[in-house]
Amino acid sequence: MNVSKLFSPLPLRGITLRNRIAVSPMCQYSAEDGRPNQWHLVHLGSRAVGGAGLVVAEATAVVPEGRISPQDTGIWSAAHVDAWRPITGFVAAQGAVPALQLAHAGFKASTYRPWAPGRGGVPDTEGGWTPVGPTNQPFTPEYRTPRALDAAGIARVVEAFAAGAARALDAGFAAVEIHAAHGYLLHEFLSPLTNRRGDGYGGDRAGRMRLTLEVARAVRAAVGESVPVLTRVSATDWTEGGWTAEDSVVLAGELAALGVDLIDASSGGAVPRAAIPVGPGYQVPLAERIRREADVPTGAVGIITAPRQAEEIIVAGRADLVLLAREMLRDPYWPLHAAAELNADVRWPSQYLRAVD
Ligand SMILES: Cc1cc2nc3c(=O)[nH]c(=O)nc-3n(C[C@H](O)[C@H](O)[C@H](O)COP(=O)(O)O)c2cc1C
Repeated sequence: MNVSKLFSPLPLRGITLRNRIAVSPMCQYSAEDGRPNQWHLVHLGSRAVGGAGLVVAEATAVVPEGRISPQDTGIWSAAHVDAWRPITGFVAAQGAVPALQLAHAGFKASTYRPWAPGRGGVPDTEGGWTPVGPTNQPFTPEYRTPRALDAAGIARVVEAFAAGAARALDAGFAAVEIHAAHGYLLHEFLSPLTNRRGDGYGGDRAGRMRLTLEVARAVRAAVGESVPVLTRVSATDWTEGGWTAEDSVVLAGELAALGVDLIDASSGGAVPRAAIPVGPGYQVPLAERIRREADVPTGAVGIITAPRQAEEIIVAGRADLVLLAREMLRDPYWPLHAAAELNADVRWPSQYLRAVD
């Protein structure tokens, strides 16, 4: 009998995850002109084989200038839809739900991928571009100086998220996640540390939340009623004068009212050198607080590595879903191994049964 709560199904709108374990979105910096390839197929596919309930594909740019690095994936054209299709098909065939993280990197765009020899902003001569942001202030002096978005530019961003969401469904994704965390464009508008605008998209919390809420409304309209929409937030800036957990509770409530089904509670990224108390499960209290105070389902992420730790988060009602990133790189079969440890009744893929019989 399946007594593990981690391995209980999670209904989300028109679909049901087979368990509460998600592969957290992870940039692979390996695409060409935004098109994913065989690397992405094997990377995401092997984690679906490994038993995850939800496989969230990396931050995928809704416009070319919204890529973090020139090697990021995209969803701004029909060519991207075609390139994603075999990947979503394989993930779904393994019983996992393929989801796409819709992203715009804002002032953190046009940077080198981590293993490149260069650091900071990529110049035009090496395939870089001028990023956009809430103002023309760069993230740090090493980053490229952004162009401040005007009202027309903001409207185009909202439309691009909606179009990206529609393309994601066309490409075979069964859920989408809006990336409003980590100091990328939506978070740059949310945080008072980075949003110094004087118009209706800045100022008080309502003004700073406006872009994220407009994106959520547009994405919900684009995907229809049955498709789950998740939103990743940086639930705190960990910085005096920044975005707070209390702000996140308010935002989560408003997002839920617009049809967002689950808040994926990450943190940080708006400013460099925030003092983040990194440790096992360090962001779980943020997921727990949003879940309790906004009454919205949440996902917990951040140094969740042990099956019993993950089980406890679900059993204690601290979150509805756990997302694992680096531990899934170390062990793509983490869910299958966790099932054994938690005595959950989960079958290995038939092709691999002789390894565990
Ligand atoms: C290689 C790598 C790439 C990442 N790319 C993304 C991304 O595309 N979108 C995102 O929201 N977070 C990204 N993250 C953050 C993870 O999703 C996760 O939130 C973070 O690593 C903490 O979880 P962990 O302790 O299980 O690794 C990335 C992390 C890693 C290690």
